[in-house]
Amino acid sequence: MAPSEPNAIPFRAKGELPNFAEELEGWKGYIEWEKYPEKKKQVEDILRNYDFPDPPEFQMVPLPSTNPILTGERFKQYHYACGLRDIVDISWQYVLKEKSPDMIHVLQFPYNGEPPRDRLVETEITTNQDFFVRNHGGVPEIDADKFFLEIGGLVNDPKQLTLADLQNEALFPRQSNVVSLQCSGTRRIEQIHEYPGDGDELINAPWGEGAIGTARWTGVSLKRVIKHCGGLRDGARHIELLGADTYFKKGKVYNYAVSVPWRKVKVHEVLLAWEMNGAPLPRIHGSPLRAVVFGYIGARSVKWLYRINALVEPSAAPVQRREYLYYTPQVGKQNALYSNGTSIQDMPVSSAIMAPRDMDTIVHAGRMKLRGWAYSGGGHWPVRVEVSGDGGSIWYEVPYEQMSTKYFHAWRLWEIEMPVDAEGWLELCVRTWDNALNTQPTFVRSTWNWDLHVTSSCHRVKVYSINRSKPATAARLKLLEEKGLSVTPITKPLELDLEPDEQFEAAMKLRAGRDPIE
Ligand code: MTE
Repeated sequence: MAPSEPNAIPFRAKGELPNFAEELEGWKGYIEWEKYPEKKKQVEDILRNYDFPDPPEFQMVPLPSTNPILTGERFKQYHYACGLRDIVDISWQYVLKEKSPDMIHVLQFPYNGEPPRDRLVETEITTNQDFFVRNHGGVPEIDADKFFLEIGGLVNDPKQLTLADLQNEALFPRQSNVVSLQCSGTRRIEQIHEYPGDGDELINAPWGEGAIGTARWTGVSLKRVIKHCGGLRDGARHIELLGADTYFKKGKVYNYAVSVPWRKVKVHEVLLAWEMNGAPLPRIHGSPLRAVVFGYIGARSVKWLYRINALVEPSAAPVQRREYLYYTPQVGKQNALYSNGTSIQDMPVSSAIMAPRDMDTIVHAGRMKLRGWAYSGGGHWPVRVEVSGDGGSIWYEVPYEQMSTKYFHAWRLWEIEMPVDAEGWLELCVRTWDNALNTQPTFVRSTWNWDLHVTSSCHRVKVYSINRSKPATAARLKLLEEKGLSVTPITKPLELDLEPDEQFEAAMKLRAGRDPIE
């Protein structure tokens, strides 16, 4: 079991556990499945033997307030049953080694984690330690000097290239870009809280607003690598990208695989990267090589990239064909098909308020400071961010000098001192417009979808406002301070009387009493 396991379900092996050999020396944790149909079949037979624990019923009940929030017992057991026991512990060790100690562990295994909210918007470039992680399996450990990338399928001259080949600037000019990656599950928690959705074995992690990050990625353009392999042949129009991790879906096993259209590759918007913010890629982010697909859903940015195939049609692999589908609110458990969902590629415009946090109590003097991120995929960028203190009737524009640098493929951070007169519970709200004048749907309900992807509606945060520019409030706060009493929690009964009798009686006189005279 992975360490610090809060509610591990014991795993009982049935018979002797298999031992699937790792494919290559120096490639620990990589098992090749795609080349060996008989091996895949063997795994299906093994998995059929077990009655794995159900996925958590987190969508019908409140989420546990533990960290990790979910532990992924079912996925751990898939791996154990196939003899891949070490990978669970090894992967957790990389979380401890490479990530910030205060990450929110949304799912322990496969590891899904996001950084604390306010730190994420402190810097335009997210540190490697704070960058969210979205894994579907374990973390392979591939030695950079043993690594090679295989390029095949419908290219004229299939090749194997080592990392040194890719880094050889005489062969490939280097490319470096600031790009945001966003998981389509970002802010899923808001959909979960309104209506349940698909909770199948591929655990829909209950992400908050932190499944997005921005880094400077360095590597080579995939287009140049394909050209180096003689270009495409026989009508190839899609490029399949394979990762070395093991991926389970509906009783079957695979290597992680997706594809991107050639037109995206052609404009140098698919990078094969070995550097993240000037440092070698951390293991957990795909070392030694990963794809970074600009402006697309994070799922296409394959980590531990080891094989590339040129294809006529998009990849038939389950992550491409059967996952990351967007349904309308009218499609659900009994009428969802793989073919009636839209495959998510370009990410739509979205944004989030990262400070203050939901349920915060804020003492202010008529202005409240709000900070957050705004992003639009597909080469669009945020041009206008608006915030509201009343759930979306009156909007204030974030001044342009309070928005961070524009990039074609990255978020913009923003902050504003928003005028706030009212006291009591307020619903803060943000919406962003991109350069194509797209903006965000108003409510979660408008875009709720069965697979709980792409929560791009206006982000809403409830806060309790205490406006000390109001004389009565200022007087109360002064009194609390003198008595050494705290303003929070607001639900705790006030230890003081609200006003003395003389003051009450004088006020009543001014108000002409409680009741009419006739
Ligand atoms: N690549 C592989 N091989 N395995 C994965 O599980 N997850 C994808 C993508 N690439 C994944 C992968 C998803 S869904 C996302 S959102 C991004 O990686 C997240 O990248 P990060 O973990 O580096 O932030």
